[in-house]
Amino acid sequence: MKIAIDGPAGAGKSTVAQRVAKRLGMLYVDTGAMYRAATLTALTRGCSIEDEQCLRDLLDTIDLTLEIHDGMQRVYVDGEDVTEAIRSLEVTRRVSTVAAHPLVREKLVDMQRRIASRKNVVMDGRDIGTSVLPDAELKVFLTASIEERARRRLQELEQKGVKAEYGELLRDIEERDRKDSEREIAPLKQAKDAVLVDTTGCSIDEVVDRIVCLHREKI
Ligand code: C5P
Repeated sequence: MKIAIDGPAGAGKSTVAQRVAKRLGMLYVDTGAMYRAATLTALTRGCSIEDEQCLRDLLDTIDLTLEIHDGMQRVYVDGEDVTEAIRSLEVTRRVSTVAAHPLVREKLVDMQRRIASRKNVVMDGRDIGTSVLPDAELKVFLTASIEERARRRLQELEQKGVKAEYGELLRDIEERDRKDSEREIAPLKQAKDAVLVDTTGCSIDEVVDRIVCLHREKI
């Protein structure tokens, strides 16, 4: 069984996907974390985010692993836990450039498909339903108004004690969605057979219940 959850930035995909996976006893895979880890590694090891071949060579040499601890995904690069570091503002602002390179996507999509071939997964990202797992039994396109997504991001950062400005977050989200939707390869797009779930004004529990219900209808 494979569940694909795609959608724009800040729609709550990871929180929702993680909880759905826990409820259904499936493995949660956050593919955005893989693109983020590639971006962080490029930044720390001096590889230009515009240099596709350098990025691919880097990905071919590093050991990128995802592990689940207490239901939460942790990300490691060559054994170093980078789970928090990949959420930085700098990585967030650059990740869409890295993710637009075909050689980067080829490598990471291959890893994603290999994981999904061994386990029942709930995988979240931008192109899971359209490209990574086109045969997923359930596809959900999760969205929310841009204002709500920026508000949620602000709250999340404030809870971590990070200062941020609403208008700036809104612009960053808009820009990232634009880049992700306009890229040539596997752009952010709702799959034809995906169910659109608008989470504006909904609680996390409501959204999780809805997806678990959709899953029940499929089995
Ligand atoms: O999901 P998250 O916001 O962490 O994703 C970070 C970035 O990684 C996205 O803005 C997008 O550029 C890229 N991404 C992608 N394909 C995916 C998942 C993420 O291109 N399946």
